Amino acid sequence: MIYLDASATTPLLPEVLDAMLPWLREGFHNPNASYAGAKQARRAIDAAREQIAALIGAEPDEIVFTSGGTESTNSALKWLARLVGRKTGRVVTSAIEHSAVLKPCETFAEVGYPVAFCPVTPLGRLDLDAYRTACAAARDGGGFASIMWVNNETGVIQPLAEACAIAKENGLAFHTDAIQAVGKILVNVRDIPVDFLSLSGHKFHGPKGIGALYIRRGCRFEPLLRGGGQEHDRRSGTENTAAIAGLGKAAELAAARLQGPSLAPLRDAFEAEVLRTVEGAQVNGDPAHRLPGASHISFERCEASGLLILLDDMGIACSAGSACMTGRQQPSHVQTAMGFPRARAVSSLRFGFSILNTMDEAHHAAACVAKAVEKLRRVQGSGIGPVMVYTP
Ligand SMILES: Cc1ncc(COP(=O)(O)O)c(C=O)c1O
Repeated sequence: MIYLDASATTPLLPEVLDAMLPWLREGFHNPNASYAGAKQARRAIDAAREQIAALIGAEPDEIVFTSGGTESTNSALKWLARLVGRKTGRVVTSAIEHSAVLKPCETFAEVGYPVAFCPVTPLGRLDLDAYRTACAAARDGGGFASIMWVNNETGVIQPLAEACAIAKENGLAFHTDAIQAVGKILVNVRDIPVDFLSLSGHKFHGPKGIGALYIRRGCRFEPLLRGGGQEHDRRSGTENTAAIAGLGKAAELAAARLQGPSLAPLRDAFEAEVLRTVEGAQVNGDPAHRLPGASHISFERCEASGLLILLDDMGIACSAGSACMTGRQQPSHVQTAMGFPRARAVSSLRFGFSILNTMDEAHHAAACVAKAVEKLRRVQGSGIGPVMVYTP
């Protein structure tokens, strides 16, 4: 199988597994206890905190471990909503956020917060004029903004420095969902002074179910989860030492990788071949601001669900750029926000390369895509058809 879905998740690296195993075996102790084994576990957690902090340019005491990206975003957003209050506080976000941000923001709107879901350009980048207007409207009453660093469907890198600066100019706190950015591109909270940042281990070859929330020193914060007071009372629950150690190792490896070769040549070779061999293929998203390993392509007259089945049969794992609901492809909220016509939106696929992919795989995958498109169009004729086409 050729795995090309690195935006969904990435495989655990062997070094990461090795870093985890001792804490699943003999190192099982509760890190909050006082005996020697517990102290060792505590030291492993502290070391991982330093590794994560180093990856994003933070101080170790600014890192709080969580159960993953969703918990991190929810912790930050729900706290900020409580802090600013719904009487005057405004929420500014974008229309293309992941549901881990969109859903909490929708809930804020339901209970009375004014929430601005700012539009994006046809290339999938935040519309800074609309965003500036929304932040200015929040200026007097206070509020906060949450903008993702990289979009999970298109791989488009957002104008984060500008978005953070505009929020600050208007006195708004700023959170970023950096779950698709951390470990893949340079993320430094000293260069871009966000207040809160969410990250997740499984997007950069760490384990699933572990993530972190960065909280800038001096920012007020009250936890989502209360209990035993772990993580300096910022996230209660007995620490998952193995997952935290794995996250730390993944961060250390990612930091080293960021100094090395980019994934862009693999992605570019794949895209060049697809564009050369497949008539009516179109790459989506801002070419000047894309994650090096990300590719999002629409295939005229080919419904994504059909392509996915054919590609899966050929051993290629990728995903659709749209959701399948009640048997019918639905354009994703991201593509809708980018203004794609329905036909283009439901015919797009998302490919995500990681360091485990090779150039041979990129070529082979491109050839498979060309075959799958050709087959689907042949069986289907003109127009987008139902899934009865998937006979062998
Ligand atoms: C942009 C973005 N935000 C949030 C999440 C949720 O992260 P997790 O799976 O760690 O809860 C994801 C994962 O798909 C994501 O891509």
